[in-house]
Amino acid sequence: MEANWWKNSVVYQIYPKSFKDTNGDGIGDLNGITQKMDYIASLGVDVVWICPVYKSPMDDNGYDISDYYTIDPVFGTNEDMDRLLVEAKKHNIKVLLDLVVNHCSDEHLWFQKAKNDPDCEEAGYFYFLDTDDGKEPNNWRSNFGGSVWSQLQDGRWYYHTFSPKQPDLNWENPKLRKEVYKIIEWWLQKGIAGFRIDAITFIKKDLSFQSKLSTEGIRYPVENFTNYSGIDVFLQEMHTEVFSKYNCMTVAEAPGVDNKSFQKYAGENGYFSMIFDFNWDNMQDEKDKSSEPAVERWKAKIFNSQLFTSKNGWSAIFLENHDQSRCINRFLESKDQNVFSASALATMYFFLCGTPFIYQGQEIGMTNAVWHSIDEMNDVRAKRMLKEAVELNTNSEKVLNYINELGRDNSRTPMQWNAGSNAGFSMGVPWLKVQANHNVINVEDEERDPLSLLTYYKKLIQLRRHAVYGKVFADGTFQKILEECSGIIAYKRAISNMEVEVIVNFTNQQKKIKIPSGICLLSNYQKMIMTDDTLLLKPYQAVIFSNT
Ligand code: GLC
Ligand code: CA
Repeated sequence: MEANWWKNSVVYQIYPKSFKDTNGDGIGDLNGITQKMDYIASLGVDVVWICPVYKSPMDDNGYDISDYYTIDPVFGTNEDMDRLLVEAKKHNIKVLLDLVVNHCSDEHLWFQKAKNDPDCEEAGYFYFLDTDDGKEPNNWRSNFGGSVWSQLQDGRWYYHTFSPKQPDLNWENPKLRKEVYKIIEWWLQKGIAGFRIDAITFIKKDLSFQSKLSTEGIRYPVENFTNYSGIDVFLQEMHTEVFSKYNCMTVAEAPGVDNKSFQKYAGENGYFSMIFDFNWDNMQDEKDKSSEPAVERWKAKIFNSQLFTSKNGWSAIFLENHDQSRCINRFLESKDQNVFSASALATMYFFLCGTPFIYQGQEIGMTNAVWHSIDEMNDVRAKRMLKEAVELNTNSEKVLNYINELGRDNSRTPMQWNAGSNAGFSMGVPWLKVQANHNVINVEDEERDPLSLLTYYKKLIQLRRHAVYGKVFADGTFQKILEECSGIIAYKRAISNMEVEVIVNFTNQQKKIKIPSGICLLSNYQKMIMTDDTLLLKPYQAVIFSNT
């Protein structure tokens, strides 16, 4: 296998709980993924990333691990995983697992022991503090709302970046780090191709644990616990001790990594193969969405990021994941949501510099759900946010609106396989509601339709991994073009004599441009309207031209 093979890959992300249930308990499972391997291969992707399937009390749907070596019974058995890996291999698909080692579950044996005996070895695997006044050691706010500290019955406080059921692991402790490397090695030996690495920039904390100045009492101390000085020692060690020994793909979720440290993380000899580019993952500050200035501001963010990352390393590019709402809702106004705008969005990011990730359901155009109340939801973050709103007496209506727009359950509703009962996801009662629009948005119908979003995604993937053109996307330079054309996002990828231009009209208006030279490799409209030297781009039309 070539080094840097992942530059030519397209990754499909699976949220196992919502992918396919085979035993009727309403929860997706490993056998469901195995069963759908033909479908995954039919997309043309060569890598899947499977979100956590290890033993877990599921406070955060598997991101709270109580045993790193065992598959949770809800998802199946270790033998099911072996079978999945065999089946994936038959289909030429590599498997990435999720590595969650900033924290574990409070039900992990380590924490259980530490809880019962402050002097045991495992007590050193966590952050415990005592305070004289019986109050939290500081006012740091956790990622899911509320304090980063929770108290044990004996009075000790323990630290958690996320929920109280996710105590942080103490990376300062070399024994703990050895345990982590053992886990990584064990799975790599099993034949997985690498890991998506969860929340890794949180592993180093400012150990002075000083309170932050705050008028609200509590504050998110981003500068004290993301990419905090000294983290390099841990990351370098993990790289040297394990990752460097395998030709594996590692993709880190690394919030807080700025341009200054990007190379160290995702450069040629970085700690990881790549990190996710979060610089343009929403248009939140661009409220008015598809109106032109908003597109322009978004475009600037994308280009700034690309111009930097393309020269300094490699990133993972994406529109959706299990923590985001659906891209159709996030980037497009409701009146503009259709197969053209969805395919324009897809074309726009797919040929940027970086490895494209597709999140399950994105390829068929799944949308956000409508959430009426907390009872319908599952996400621990949403529940904690609403609880905090009630405690702080802030407007919970506002929080509910926020959750409808940006809540994580939006992308976690069951995969829509067909128009039948439960969208073909399960014979039982699904753990999270199935969306009504599965009667029109589903795999089965779109597979039959040559003009569907699904068919278009397959074309994108094919082109991205093409024997000839694939090279320019994996190794070519990045350059912005047609900058003066407002509402148009366009760029050029180039290598040796090959130049490919990706041009996307990201508005609901027609736009005129000069006809690009060369041949058209792809368009999301069947017709191309050209007069003299002008190409008339229809609303949300995307075209790709190559000089050879
Ligand atoms: C990451 C995961 C998210 C999880 C959190 C805690 O951000 O993507 O789903 O809740 O880490 O593990
Ligand atoms: Ca099941």
